Amino acid sequence: MERTLSIIKPDGVSKGLIGEVIGRFEKAGIKIAAMKMLHMTKDEAKGFYAVHKDKPFFDSLTDFMSSGPIVVMVLEGENVIKKNRELMGATNYKEAEPGTIRADFATDIEKNVVHGSDAPETARTEIAYFFSELEICD
Ligand code: CMP
Repeated sequence: MERTLSIIKPDGVSKGLIGEVIGRFEKAGIKIAAMKMLHMTKDEAKGFYAVHKDKPFFDSLTDFMSSGPIVVMVLEGENVIKKNRELMGATNYKEAEPGTIRADFATDIEKNVVHGSDAPETARTEIAYFFSELEICD
């Protein structure tokens, strides 16, 4: 059993895609083990994306991620990191497979509706950024 962090980004929330995204996870047999809605400050967004701090898009990305509410979830299941990344599609929506969340709803490489951890170690760090172990339902 594996866990990953999923975020419905401010563009996904403002476009009314919370139910659509969660529905895709549930239809794929992925369990939601924790979930909350919050509005990050710029500093909280910078902390979450610290790995990208030297990228040219860091300032714009952290402005966007702190521009409105997000939904953060812990997803649980077999191979859930890979499964979630398949459901999301490529970071750049123009390269995302048809039928993926980003191909269907993203409008921009930055405003790409969802985030998902890319590896087990990242998943552990990202989950711990938003959730205590007590908040995660087994
Ligand atoms: P995400 O999966 O959340 O991981 C890092 C985010 O940075 C990514 O989705 C995009 O929102 C953003 N991003 C990645 N590459 C670029 C880019 N070339 N230009 C702007 N934003 C980017």
